[in-house]
Amino acid sequence: MSSLNIYKRIINLVSRSKVSVIGALLVSILLPVLLISIGFDSLGLIENPYFGFLLYVVMAPLLVLGTILLIFGVLFSRGGEEIGTYTVEYLKEQFTRPGRYSRIRRLLYFTVVITLLLVFVVGLASYSSFRYTSSSQFCGQFCHNVMQPQYTAYRNSPHSRVSCVKCHLGKDADWAERSRFTGLKQLWAVATDSYPRPILPPITALRPGRKTCEQCHLPEKFHGSRLYTRERFLPDETNTRVRTVILMKVGSGDIEGKVAHGIHWHVSESQQVFYRAADHEREIITEVRQVEKGKKDIIYTAMAGGDTDAGDSGGVGELRKMDCVDCHNRPTHIFLSADEALDRKLAANIISPYLPFIKRQALAVITKEYPSREVARVEISRGLQNWYRENYPELIENNPNLFERAVQGVVDAYMDNVFPSMRVTWGTYRNNLGHSKGSGCFRCHGKLRRVGSDRVISNDCNLCHVILAENEKQPEILKSLKGVIE
Ligand code: HEC
Ligand code: HEC
Ligand code: HEC
Ligand code: HEC
Ligand code: HEC
Repeated sequence: MSSLNIYKRIINLVSRSKVSVIGALLVSILLPVLLISIGFDSLGLIENPYFGFLLYVVMAPLLVLGTILLIFGVLFSRGGEEIGTYTVEYLKEQFTRPGRYSRIRRLLYFTVVITLLLVFVVGLASYSSFRYTSSSQFCGQFCHNVMQPQYTAYRNSPHSRVSCVKCHLGKDADWAERSRFTGLKQLWAVATDSYPRPILPPITALRPGRKTCEQCHLPEKFHGSRLYTRERFLPDETNTRVRTVILMKVGSGDIEGKVAHGIHWHVSESQQVFYRAADHEREIITEVRQVEKGKKDIIYTAMAGGDTDAGDSGGVGELRKMDCVDCHNRPTHIFLSADEALDRKLAANIISPYLPFIKRQALAVITKEYPSREVARVEISRGLQNWYRENYPELIENNPNLFERAVQGVVDAYMDNVFPSMRVTWGTYRNNLGHSKGSGCFRCHGKLRRVGSDRVISNDCNLCHVILAENEKQPEILKSLKGVIE
């Protein structure tokens, strides 16, 4: 029998059922398109995130569906003329008669080749869709509106080269599955426009820091103290520059026989800290447990009369092992306060501190509420232009570039941090790496008391840092360190 006959036979087989015809159509259209597109994508020729989505989240599954329909139709359809094709007698006949046998053999070869090809393409497609749905591009850009705040903050952060899944997913299946499952739920939420605005932490399915952060940062390698200087600008005529110099006792987990100490004491191997919170945000901590091998657990509870409720502390919430993200909850989605956002642009000279009152005026325009980012862009720049035209007309006349650049800097300070469509505004996301307004470290420090004693978890001002200068114009300490920093 010629291959033409085999071809006819296959057409015959397939056309006996509507199901397999639909399947065959899907396969024959999608197969070549997918092959070529995957080729393009692997070569990195197309960067559009929608292309990947179409390819791997729409077309690849359709191809699999087509294949299943095709096989299903051929095997199980009834009602065609050649209903006997796959009955046992028919097969026996085919295999025992020499003439027939060679015919069926060719048919078998053909089927095997087609199947292998399909398995290859489907495998390739599913591998690529796995890779694609794990890419930062997919996470951050595809669901553009939803992830815009996190994606923008991420791109401006020290972790902009770390892919989303390094922190949000990971290798061990258990957690990967959990996150992927919630990932599907999230896709559904986006499709049906039912996602929360803003998306509020904590993400309960985030893997423990030991499985994510510690792939790159080894807590036992932190050591000693670190000097930070912060530049601020006051809202006066000259935008006075002041500096805070602070020595952070970063400390370490235990290493080379040294005892764990300082800030990273909480994540050392030798002892562990657990806590229980009364609210979803983990803001109100009711119980802390310090667990050390071979020693009795030390338990701290909220003080009666404080703003945390000591009475029923136990039952609420799970006991959670403290890890990196309990302090570093904003390692990459760092949203600044309006003040900080402007200070950074001023320190970088993007907004020139030479412009009188620029800090004060900028602060006034970016902290107003705008219905959308587009409106904000226009209004912020108009607000500044109007004020300076009125009060310092020659100044902007003589320095048009300086002024333009400053206006753009002010607009960017807003754009990096405020997203009205997601209801993300100044201060929506709090940072636990400090103690503004009694949160962060002060959720425990100074709040909880050791059971059976008077001792409170220390909030001695020199426990965590030494403040060497606070908002000073010319800090002495920087003078003595001249040549070391700045
Ligand atoms: C360096 C690690 C890291 C990377 C990289 C990272 N994230 Fe996150 N992400 C976090 C942490 C930590 C949280 C806060 C978890 C908490 O407080 O429970 C978070 C929270 C979020 C939230 C919840 C809202 C919020 O701001 O708390 C979203 C949405 C999110 N990330 C999306 C992304 C996307 C999209 C990317 C990639 C473009 C990404 N993340 C990359 C660590 C990371
Ligand atoms: C894939 C590697 C990787 C992972 C995972 C990772 N980081 Fe980092 N992290 C880095 C690198 C690289 C830097 C240094 C970036 C720089 O200095 O510009 C950094 C810097 C930092 C810094 C210092 C930032 C600063 O302002 O100097 C902190 C804090 C930090 N990471 C915390 C975390 C936490 C918390 C997690 C887990 C949620 C995490 N990292 C996960 C690679 C990683
Ligand atoms: C008790 C809160 C707390 C915990 C828990 C914690 N950190 Fe930190 N970490 C800090 C503070 C505070 C600083 C210094 C201040 C700053 O960076 O603004 C810091 C600094 C750092 C730095 C930059 C400093 C340096 O010496 O390079 C890295 C990186 C870092 N932490 C990673 C981690 C990782 C990874 C974990 C989890 C294993 C972790 N931290 C757990 C509070 C904490
Ligand atoms: C979940 C509760 C909790 C939080 C949140 C917390 N701590 Fe602690 N911290 C403790 C406990 C418990 C101790 C041990 C008791 C003590 O020293 O009084 C401790 C001890 C310390 C110590 C002394 C370690 C040593 O050398 O023995 C430092 C430094 C410290 N914490 C810094 C921080 C900083 C910085 C933050 C915020 C970024 C923070 N802690 C947040 C519970 C917490
Ligand atoms: C449990 C640890 C801890 C204790 C106790 C503590 N601080 Fe802090 N403090 C921090 C951390 C962490 C930061 C750094 C925050 C950051 O990186 O922005 C900080 C920052 C500061 C800053 C600098 C803020 C800035 O950026 O201008 C000042 C000022 C300050 N603390 C004052 C105090 C005073 C006063 C006390 C005593 C009542 C105190 N702190 C006790 C952890 C602590």
